[in-house]
Amino acid sequence: MGDKTALVIFTPSGKRGNIPVGTPVLSAARQLGVDLDSVCGGRGICSKCQVTPGFGKFPKHGVTVAKGALSGWNAVEARYDEKRGLKEGRRLGCQACIQGDVVIDVPPGSQVHRQVVRKAATRRQITMDPATQLRYVEVREPDMHEPTGDLQRLCEALKRDWDISDPEASPAFLASLQHALRDGGWKATVAVWRDHRGGAPVLLDIWPGFFEGRLHGLAIDLGSTTISAHLCDLRDGQVLASSGVMNPQIRFGEDLMSRVSYAMMNPGGDAEMTREVREAIGQLAIELSDETDIPLRQIVEAVVVCNPVMHHLLLGIDPVELGQAPFALATSNAVNTHAADFGLASINPSANAYVLPCIAGHVGADCAAVALSEEPYKSEDLILICDVGTNAEILLGSKDRVLACSSPTGPAFEGAQISSGQRAAPGAIERVEIDPMTKKPRFQVIGSDLWSDEAGFAEATAVTGVTGICGSGIIEAVAEMRMAGLLDASGLIGSAEQTGSGLCVPDGRTHAYVIWDARDDGGPLIAVTQGDIRAIQLAKSALYAGARLLMDELEVERVDRIALAGAFGSHISPRHAMVLGMIPDCDPAKVRSVGNAAGTGARIALCDISARARIEAEVLRVQKVETAIEPRFQEHFVAANAIPHASDLFPHLPELPDVSFNAGGGRSADSPTGRRRRRRTQDPLLRP
Ligand code: FES
Repeated sequence: MGDKTALVIFTPSGKRGNIPVGTPVLSAARQLGVDLDSVCGGRGICSKCQVTPGFGKFPKHGVTVAKGALSGWNAVEARYDEKRGLKEGRRLGCQACIQGDVVIDVPPGSQVHRQVVRKAATRRQITMDPATQLRYVEVREPDMHEPTGDLQRLCEALKRDWDISDPEASPAFLASLQHALRDGGWKATVAVWRDHRGGAPVLLDIWPGFFEGRLHGLAIDLGSTTISAHLCDLRDGQVLASSGVMNPQIRFGEDLMSRVSYAMMNPGGDAEMTREVREAIGQLAIELSDETDIPLRQIVEAVVVCNPVMHHLLLGIDPVELGQAPFALATSNAVNTHAADFGLASINPSANAYVLPCIAGHVGADCAAVALSEEPYKSEDLILICDVGTNAEILLGSKDRVLACSSPTGPAFEGAQISSGQRAAPGAIERVEIDPMTKKPRFQVIGSDLWSDEAGFAEATAVTGVTGICGSGIIEAVAEMRMAGLLDASGLIGSAEQTGSGLCVPDGRTHAYVIWDARDDGGPLIAVTQGDIRAIQLAKSALYAGARLLMDELEVERVDRIALAGAFGSHISPRHAMVLGMIPDCDPAKVRSVGNAAGTGARIALCDISARARIEAEVLRVQKVETAIEPRFQEHFVAANAIPHASDLFPHLPELPDVSFNAGGGRSADSPTGRRRRRRTQDPLLRP
């Protein structure tokens, strides 16, 4: 290279600088801090460094690029093009050298830290920068006169080509090192894990020669009722497959506290629950690998989010301290550990598992994951985030201050403790509408887009049948019953005489509302019973009381936005949630479902190492509010029992039917608040 330089401008970053003529584009990118990928270290093998040079006039950049601005097509590029094909206009950045002023575009596929759009619902982007990455190296052969170990010569190459210093080698890595180096003719691809806290990098695995495969990771959302896992490609963050199972610990108790009690009362009970959950996670990993044909060895990372009790049980820690004040966690810090230590023995033997930090004794890593996904700490306006599951995690705040609490909603929202309840699966009723005039229901089941009163419904559901009602279905059913005047504000279901509907049938000393009766055909009777309403009232009161407690703490009477998260969060209708009084009053346009935010947070931490550092710092700033010892929680809970609420106003709701079904009841003159409700016109929530 001579002294002559040329102006090199990279797009889309806009980074520019004068680079000595003769410099490969990949080296120019590195000098200018441009994000251009490379796995083979510039040897023309990996094709990750593809760029598209532009020629002609670029008035925006003030340059004109001549045809010869890059060196000609060379033998390496020609060979690659012949074998794999290079897109028209593309060059390999490690082969093409700068000859004159040039504008070079780095396409998204060649950016290491490219951003991938999450779901259309939120348009959030995930930056790709996984902890474990592949590095290709060429290693010096051993020499009798200069005795050094294979590992030492490999480390020398990693330092030289990738600036990786003093890595540690896992025992499994050492076991495969010598074969890999010799089989690959002293060329190898190494999976290197980086510690975001600055600890030593770890050599996880090695493949002979240039490894064509990809690395993968598991994002695991370990809930009290269900465990779900996503298998993600660590190159582009794509979810390749998802799977879920019921948490087998359910047999030890449906809610968290009953599992803590089980551990307290039964010596060795904690170890038993640990074993069960680890086995379930291990099985999920195997299923996902089978489904996608991705070798288990190529799954090199796992990220887990869970509540504090699940966190302790997963890590093999007795959760007994979490059952009593002051609810001390064994550790609130994030945990980096060997995945094999907790059930993921089948994936890569050296895989790392990262468990997000917990916020407090009752506010876990799942809440931290929700925060990572929804970023309340960046919000200009006041946002309430409710992650609804067996336990609700609630966050309230903005960029100034964020509060968090958890509230024991119980499993009713997940379809458990409901007479016809089931988890969300094909055949489960997930949407319900009740005609306010005829009081007749219609519904949709998972697996079909048809409503039950539409032609073709029977055929469309012939395989799955109509089997039960899931969490989102029961929420809609109860809210619709309230809107249709079948249910009063105290939560009582009216009789056939009181409501004028023959679908309100006696059920012991109370009543039930029939949604689907297929008994004549040997099918089920699906009805909402008084017991179901009580279970939903308890769950929704706990959620509402938690949110109100945080609002008290911030001294606010309203919130600007509400995000509903949870495994079934994306299916909850904001309108129904508000009629039920699950959430405080809010402009319906500002209430949105954000899906499984905890799972999304897990995916973000899986794909982007800097997100781990970010959430660890943010968690320290979140103020925890302990619902279990707060007397106002009880007050809020009792007041929230009414549907929608005993005293809080819901100006955004339509006027609800003024009915009362307690003994001697009938139509009452006043609303349950003791005030006559204001009649609203053109309410956005009113039925058309
Ligand atoms: Fe691998 Fe260019 S860096 S082909």
